[in-house]
Amino acid sequence: MILFKTVRPLQNKLEKLRSNKQKIGFVPTMGALHAGHVSLVTEAKKHCDMVVCSIFVNPTQFNDEKDFEKYPVTIENDIFLLETNKTGILFLPSVNEIYPEGTEQLQHFELGYLENIFEGKYRPGHFQGVCNVVHRLLNIINPDILFLGRKDYQQYLVVKKMLQDFHPSTGIMAVDTAREANGLAMSSRNMRLSEDARIKATAIYQSLQYIKQHIAEGDIEWLKEKAKEKIWQGGFDKIDYVEICDAETLLPVSTIKTGKKIIVLAAAFIEDVRLIDNILL
Ligand code: PAF
Repeated sequence: MILFKTVRPLQNKLEKLRSNKQKIGFVPTMGALHAGHVSLVTEAKKHCDMVVCSIFVNPTQFNDEKDFEKYPVTIENDIFLLETNKTGILFLPSVNEIYPEGTEQLQHFELGYLENIFEGKYRPGHFQGVCNVVHRLLNIINPDILFLGRKDYQQYLVVKKMLQDFHPSTGIMAVDTAREANGLAMSSRNMRLSEDARIKATAIYQSLQYIKQHIAEGDIEWLKEKAKEKIWQGGFDKIDYVEICDAETLLPVSTIKTGKKIIVLAAAFIEDVRLIDNILL
């Protein structure tokens, strides 16, 4: 694996690869890597000749400064994991490399209602920060395909929209959520949970599964309440949302129509850690 910390040498390398007709895949991350990130790299390797992974804890996407400060940094382990999984290039930029003019004046992206629902509602400004960093990283790397995890489904839809507007020649692929054996969605935030909370946290996945199993019974509001009950019983301290939505628009549905792809999403806190998960029905 070749490690680049600055833009110019990375771009020189990528230019050479491109002139040799190599297809470039890009996996952006904020580090604290786990099996979910490895599955993104594995998927990228299936579709591309060269995989570039970036590790950059993007300050502009944290609406809560404490969350930013607490974000786990495990760089040695991350490098080991990427090398073991034969990632071609690691881009490890500084804040100054990505935001040379500082982080105060950000570009504004038109994201429509997607910006203000669910994650956007509870984390104001989050998606503007995500779009700013992904846009900058794409300008640097100019990959053929961008790989994102399906766990952050709203982020996937938001970035897809940004790509249509600003990077129409870059493809995007969502990779399935990697889970622990008990169903808990893998997340860098799980590192902040105690052993006990890691077990209890499966209640989110179980509540989503409950909705999946009972969706044919039809009463959407009742299903959401039952799912919330399960999350509370699991020991969560706060629930931001449990929603059943059209998977293309992310708008809540009130009835289930055949032929429509449905997604069930939830966000809740345990031990002060905010976890999100979703399943496609
Ligand atoms: O999903 C993440 O880890 C981040 O939001 C991303 C896409 C790397 C942008 O910082």
